[in-house]
Amino acid sequence: MKKISIAIDGYSSTGKSTLARQLARELGYIYIDTGAMYRAVTLFALREGLIGEEPDEPALEKRLAALEIGFERNDETGRSEVTLEGKNVEGEIRNLDVSRYVSQIAALGAVREKLVAQQQAMAAQGGVVMDGRDIGTVVLPEADLKIFMTASPEIRANRRYKELLDRGEQVRYEEVLQNVRDRDYIDSNREISPLRKAADAIEFDNSDMGMEEQFERIHAHALRVI
Ligand code: C5P
Repeated sequence: MKKISIAIDGYSSTGKSTLARQLARELGYIYIDTGAMYRAVTLFALREGLIGEEPDEPALEKRLAALEIGFERNDETGRSEVTLEGKNVEGEIRNLDVSRYVSQIAALGAVREKLVAQQQAMAAQGGVVMDGRDIGTVVLPEADLKIFMTASPEIRANRRYKELLDRGEQVRYEEVLQNVRDRDYIDSNREISPLRKAADAIEFDNSDMGMEEQFERIHAHALRVI
C-alpha cells in the first residue's frame, strides 16, 4: 500500500486535530499537530517576557535558532504531545492566554520559516497526517489528499468552550467566540502564508455533522487515493 501525505487545513476549532489524529491511527500514519508547535513558541515567548503590547520580533528571532520544539509519545494515551526544550508542555498550550497571542506569533516570518522547515522534514517519508492552516498551500503543496474544514464561528466557539470547561478552565462563551473570530481574522489576513483553501483541496463543512460521519467520509476519501 502506498504511504500518502494528508493535509488538513481550516479555521480554528473546526475539529481538525481530532479528525487528523483518528485518521492517522486508522492508517498507521504519524500525526503532526502544527498548531501545537506555534502554541509552544507562543508559550516560550510569554514565559520569556517577549510579548508586551505585541511580540518583540527581533528579540524572539534571536532566540529561535536554539529553540527546541519537538514531540514525544504519551505511553498512556498513545498520543504524541508537544515538547519545548525537551519538556512536555501539552497541558499548558491550549489555555486562553496562549490562544490570545498565538496568531500574532504565527504571523512572524522567522517563526514560520523555522517551523515550516521542521514540519517538511518530519513529513519527508510520507505516511503522515498533518493539520494546520498552510499545510496544503505551503508545507506540503504536493500532498496526496487535501481537506479544508469549515464550520460556523458560533458552532466552533461552542465546541471549544465546552472543551475548556471540561478541562476546568474558567472562561465565558463570549470570550471564546471573540478569540475564534480574532484568530480567523489574523490567520486569514496575515501577509505570510495566510489561511487559504488550496485549489485542489476538498472543502468540508462540518457544522451539522457528528465526529463519526466526518471520519467515515474523510477516511473514504483517503482510501480512494491510497
Ligand atoms: O490549530 P490551532 O488552533 O491549535 O493553531 C493555533 C494557531 O496557530 C492558529 O490560530 C494559527 O494562528 C497558528 N497556526 C498557523 N499555521 C499552522 C498551524 C497553526 O499559523 N500550520
